[in-house]
Amino acid sequence: MRMKVTVVGAGNVGATTAQRLAERDYADVVLVDIVEGMPQGKALDLNQSGPVVGYEPNVVGTNGYEETAGSDVVVITSGFPRQPGMSRDDLLAKNKEIVGGVAEQVAERSPDAIVIVVTNPLDAMCHVAADVTKFPRERVIGMAGILDSARFRTFLAWELGVSVRDVTGFVLGGHGDTMVPVVSYTSVAGVPVSQRIPKERLDEIVQRTRDGGAEVVKLLQKGSAFYAPSAAAVEMVDSIVLDQHRVLPCAALCQGEYGLDGLFVGVPVKLGKGGIEEIIEIELNDEEKSALDASAGAVRELVDAMATL
Ligand SMILES: NC(=O)c1ccc[n+]([C@@H]2O[C@H](COP(=O)([O-])OP(=O)(O)OC[C@H]3O[C@@H](n4cnc5c(N)ncnc54)[C@H](O)[C@@H]3O)[C@@H](O)[C@H]2O)c1
Repeated sequence: MRMKVTVVGAGNVGATTAQRLAERDYADVVLVDIVEGMPQGKALDLNQSGPVVGYEPNVVGTNGYEETAGSDVVVITSGFPRQPGMSRDDLLAKNKEIVGGVAEQVAERSPDAIVIVVTNPLDAMCHVAADVTKFPRERVIGMAGILDSARFRTFLAWELGVSVRDVTGFVLGGHGDTMVPVVSYTSVAGVPVSQRIPKERLDEIVQRTRDGGAEVVKLLQKGSAFYAPSAAAVEMVDSIVLDQHRVLPCAALCQGEYGLDGLFVGVPVKLGKGGIEEIIEIELNDEEKSALDASAGAVRELVDAMATL
């Protein structure tokens, strides 16, 4: 039996995620949105790509949740994206309501699912999904670190004129202005980037990474990035569906790790068929540790602010 992956929100990120999943051909895909006809239309269009691209047409579009029942993985992308001049945090109140409602439906129909949250502000929305579903921490995971790390890796590869495949690195912390690109664990084919790029230039690349989402928002004028975000979400789905045990930076509920308790923050996790198999604690230098603490503090403030809404 093929697995079932549901994508909630059939906008830019959701539809692109569904397309990437359909092309993987390893699971049936259900695409949900509140706009009538839109997920059905996109599903039909995706199914009709099957004969050309070479996958089985198994995408269902719907405005309800019956078709999502028994999903193995649910990716939540429903909600408002940023517009130019907005921070991710400006989306808090509206998206809390949307993600809360979706999480309730998901928990009822797919009590064993692994939920991947994409909607912003990411870390706060993970708290909403975890609170509403009451799923264990292994099964509520946020997508952000892979995307932020991909931006960092891209800029570093351009700087050095090397393949992006040879640049590895982690961006940890909250998915916001305080995110923490961890330079000490960033390398090109095993060689630390600090040996290849002067500190001042590295600082500029770190800042461009932090502003990476805003740079795209400003250029697009309407809406936010979706190609790289969907690729990042699907890398997480791959690791779960194919039980790959990938070590990826994801938002996870820390319970003592990194000195943080009861807070979703981006940390390296091992992902397999049960969801989070392990939160991996890496040693950080003093500067990185205090940057992670500051980033966690910003997430905590947002979560506390959400409680008063
Ligand atoms: N975590 C990340 O790194 C990351 C990256 C990119 C985007 N995002 C976030 O993902 C979200 C989606 O972005 P997008 O570009 O796809 O936006 P979009 O506007 O293109 O799509 C959002 C979709 O959600 C749907 N929707 C709204 N309420 C719903 C509900 N209750 N049930 C089902 N569907 C509902 C809308 O109809 C719309 O089609 C935004 O919050 C954005 O900020 C996060």
